[in-house]
Amino acid sequence: MVRIENLDMIFNRGTPDENYALKNISLTVQAGDFITLIGSNGAGKSTLYNAIAGTCLPTAGRVFVRDETKNTERDITREAEYKRARYIGRIFQNPLLGTAGKMSLEHNMMICHRKGYKGLRISLNQKMRDYFRENLRTLDMGLENRLHDNVELFSGGQRQALTLLMAVMSKPNLLLLDEHTAALDPRNAEMIMDLTLRFAADYHLTVMMITHNMTHALEAGNRLLMMDGGEIILDIDAAEKAKLTTKDIVQRFKDIKNKELANDEMLLG
Ligand SMILES: Nc1ncnc2c1ncn2[C@@H]1O[C@H](COP(=O)(O)OP(=O)(O)OP(=O)(O)O)[C@@H](O)[C@H]1O
Ligand SMILES: [Mg+2]
Repeated sequence: MVRIENLDMIFNRGTPDENYALKNISLTVQAGDFITLIGSNGAGKSTLYNAIAGTCLPTAGRVFVRDETKNTERDITREAEYKRARYIGRIFQNPLLGTAGKMSLEHNMMICHRKGYKGLRISLNQKMRDYFRENLRTLDMGLENRLHDNVELFSGGQRQALTLLMAVMSKPNLLLLDEHTAALDPRNAEMIMDLTLRFAADYHLTVMMITHNMTHALEAGNRLLMMDGGEIILDIDAAEKAKLTTKDIVQRFKDIKNKELANDEMLLG
């Protein structure tokens, strides 16, 4: 689905603040993969997403997206972020970022719905409201009855669930989740995690999920990556992952890096 080839990201190159955030990363994401991505603070996880989503231009290397229907690959390394947004979805930690608080629920969904049809005027009609309601019903939060409410009235958990639903409705080739449950209370975090797994299965999504929750990283998905110092230091497939505990992961890190894992935060959950 997406292939990354020898990616480097160097910030402040040639200055005393030079920072190798990504070091020669190569990675192939297959259609239908659910990859969990872990690593200490500053490991380069979000920077990798920035390169995939087009937020930052890499210093070296290339990013390709695969068109399964035509069996071809396209180099998107220099494609603008807004163009990639049509096929690469991204959800952040902050539940306020994915939706516009001062706009109604239906307006938010409308904007998202129009993403694929640039230039075309589509007006909000009954058929579309029915379509929105039908999808909102799958969240089981009663939001289908609140189409006219401004989204700022919703709770953090509801907003993140909505962001997730809207991302799924736009049928992304790849969905990038960046600690999307981390800012929520434990109950809502589990709710969003369950919803993520349900949507991934129901819609056959291809997902990369950054998490500091090792339990989620081990239980979800078919592949686990660990980053450290801008490199992928562990790449574990489904069969191997099924046998591992969080303790094993910590031990693997120790064995590879010859040091303790920096943040205990990763052991939570
Ligand atoms: N735009 C930027 N300019 C300069 N340095 C940056 C920039 N973006 C990221 N960095 C640096 O790159 C490194 C990797 O950062 P990144 O945000 O990818 O880490 P992360 O793995 O997502 O960490 P966290 O778990 O804390 O979110 C860090 O040292 C960070 O300070
Ligand atoms: Mg990050």
